[in-house]
Amino acid sequence: MKNIFAKRVSKLNPSPTLALDAKIKDMIKNGIEVISFGVGEPDFDTPQYIKEAGKKAIDEGLTKYTPAGGTESLKRAVCMWYKREYGVDINPSMVVVSNGAKHSLFNIALALIDRGDEVIIPSPYWVSYPEQVSLVGGKPVFIKTTIDDNFKVTPKKLKESITDKTKAIIISSPSNPTGAVYFKEELSEILKIAKKYNFYLIFDEIYDKLVYDEKFYSILELIKDDKNLKDRVIVVNGVSKSYAMTGWRIGYTISNDKLAKVMNDIQSQTTSNPSSISQRAAEIALTEKTDDLKKMVSEFKKRRDLIFKLISDIPDVRVHKPEGSFYIFPDFSKYLGRKDGKKVIKTTLDLADYLLQNAKSGVVPGEAFGAPGYLRFSFANSSDKIKKGIGNIKEALLRLL
Ligand SMILES: Cc1ncc(COP(=O)(O)O)c(C=O)c1O
Repeated sequence: MKNIFAKRVSKLNPSPTLALDAKIKDMIKNGIEVISFGVGEPDFDTPQYIKEAGKKAIDEGLTKYTPAGGTESLKRAVCMWYKREYGVDINPSMVVVSNGAKHSLFNIALALIDRGDEVIIPSPYWVSYPEQVSLVGGKPVFIKTTIDDNFKVTPKKLKESITDKTKAIIISSPSNPTGAVYFKEELSEILKIAKKYNFYLIFDEIYDKLVYDEKFYSILELIKDDKNLKDRVIVVNGVSKSYAMTGWRIGYTISNDKLAKVMNDIQSQTTSNPSSISQRAAEIALTEKTDDLKKMVSEFKKRRDLIFKLISDIPDVRVHKPEGSFYIFPDFSKYLGRKDGKKVIKTTLDLADYLLQNAKSGVVPGEAFGAPGYLRFSFANSSDKIKKGIGNIKEALLRLL
């Protein structure tokens, strides 16, 4: 037997952010104090009322299979939540609940993408988008965005990337890794183009509640009266980030009924339902209104301002102030070519490694997101650690020649 594994996995890359996490944990295990800016989850505990709901679910015997695409009551809670937060009307038949937003995205890929289909992905991108597209035989088509266009695709660049094979575009807003948010006018422009050229729009709104200065518009608010676009827009969201529930694994899609049915069927033959206990906890998270989210957002905003200021003070670094998420993505390209003794720092992979060894601070190199020259910092970290870590980074950078 020549090829032991399927061809589709021959180019599969493991998640670089999880790999960094493992490296940092290893250093910590060996007694080295490391400050991690690599974290992709809130450093807040799941709020107590949600934990209680999970415990109660077990005691009440919600421990059996549920419908594959989620319980009717959780789907109704998602509908209620979208009405409350964004004023949009959606039906439970449009919702499919999965094991986290990552799983929701993979269901979409399986349901929509055929071999050779092109999927437009603006870079810097979230690590799993191109990997998932490639796994199902699709072709990722990247549109490069930079700090100079605030990490957002322009209508011109988008039009230039469209071919007769374009099946969809995937947009993360607020973005991981850049923190950039598409606002109303920008969304309207993209919608116009999608309508004209007839492709799907996959909007990953997992960080929708972590937006700091301006009102965030869900894409669903802008297509309320447009049947044609309603058929083509797919929203991905979940409770992982807004409710500090990454380990509970609940995400969902909102799409047209037919696509929802297909994804439901895929799930019925692959994973069956996400955890019944997590589903109940997610339902309570969405239904009850407490001020846990507000507190978390206000703390993230303080840290966003802090880290933005500290990084802006490092010479030769350019920074875009993130409008949302808990990431900041500064441009460190001016440090490339500098020397650590005899060793030349050639790439941001080298730079991240240098900072891990010399500033004991873990950052994710831009290469992981298709954007060499940048580093991603997560500010899901205490203000004290942010101050100490960025201080160490600044000192280590200034030692380079
Ligand atoms: C942009 C984006 N989408 C989706 C996900 C996945 O979320 P979940 O943990 O619910 O699978 C993440 C998690 O890091 C993310 O950053």
